[in-house]
Amino acid sequence: MPTPTAHSPKEPADGTANGTAYGTANRLADGPAAPAVLRARALSRVYRTGDTEVRALWEVDLDVARGEFIVLLGASGSGKSTLLNLLGGLDRPSSGELWFEDHCLSNADEDTLTRYRRAHVGFVFQFYNLIPSLTVAENVALVTDIADDPMSVDEALALVALMPRRDHFPSQLSGGEQQRVAIARAIAKRPQLLLCDEPTGALDYATGKRVLEVIARINQELGTTTVVITHNAAIAGMADRVMRLVDGRIDRIDRPARRLSPAELTW
Ligand SMILES: Nc1ncnc2c1ncn2[C@@H]1O[C@H](COP(=O)(O)OP(=O)(O)O)[C@@H](O)[C@H]1O
Ligand SMILES: [Mg+2]
Repeated sequence: MPTPTAHSPKEPADGTANGTAYGTANRLADGPAAPAVLRARALSRVYRTGDTEVRALWEVDLDVARGEFIVLLGASGSGKSTLLNLLGGLDRPSSGELWFEDHCLSNADEDTLTRYRRAHVGFVFQFYNLIPSLTVAENVALVTDIADDPMSVDEALALVALMPRRDHFPSQLSGGEQQRVAIARAIAKRPQLLLCDEPTGALDYATGKRVLEVIARINQELGTTTVVITHNAAIAGMADRVMRLVDGRIDRIDRPARRLSPAELTW
């Protein structure tokens, strides 16, 4: 009979736990090929108002690999934003565990979550939330001024192909251009995670594609782990993995055989 081998993972010299609570033995069947940067176990978010209880997210297990591009699909109300907000430290779960590398987010206090967001997460929402009285470059500088190791404003603007517009005001730009400024602002601090909640929701077909191309290029060129919410199923072809949420649960996970460029998508 084989003798069971006891594993005692060595801690790295800097004292950070390696692999923390979950080793490779716990890897999910549909999990990523590379080590996970985000790990959720039985992650739930329940809203209670009076007598009603809404299970916005219910016992979700999820591993996201470093550099992965994940598309989250699902009907309105299926829990996509709830999941993204938990991953980004904008909200806390009702139960379950959530880890970013070796940081436990599920029991973190507000200050810790604020530091986590500031250091590691770039957000892009449906509406661009630019400051109208500041130029494009000044909107991006709001982030680069306070980040630890930011890229330059112009480097960020070049990544979204907006250098020629750097001194314009948001009102002088189209919706797609404004969203690209929001993306530049999100990535300028070189976040490890880029979380996008319906980034093309307010844009027309061609403009939406252009914005998705920018997000896909950032994922590939900077290696930024990226999660994009959409109810546009055609966008799924861009992903390493596609997760479909139904009623607060991950209903299925697909791994497209070949990752398409946004230019190849049609909808
Ligand atoms: N603050 C809240 N209070 C009560 N219910 C909420 C709240 N936020 C979201 N919900 C409910 O949680 C469910 C999931 O919402 P959400 O994550 O926003 O879905 P999606 O982003 O997929 O449209 C929905 O039923 C929604 O009504
Ligand atoms: Mg939503």
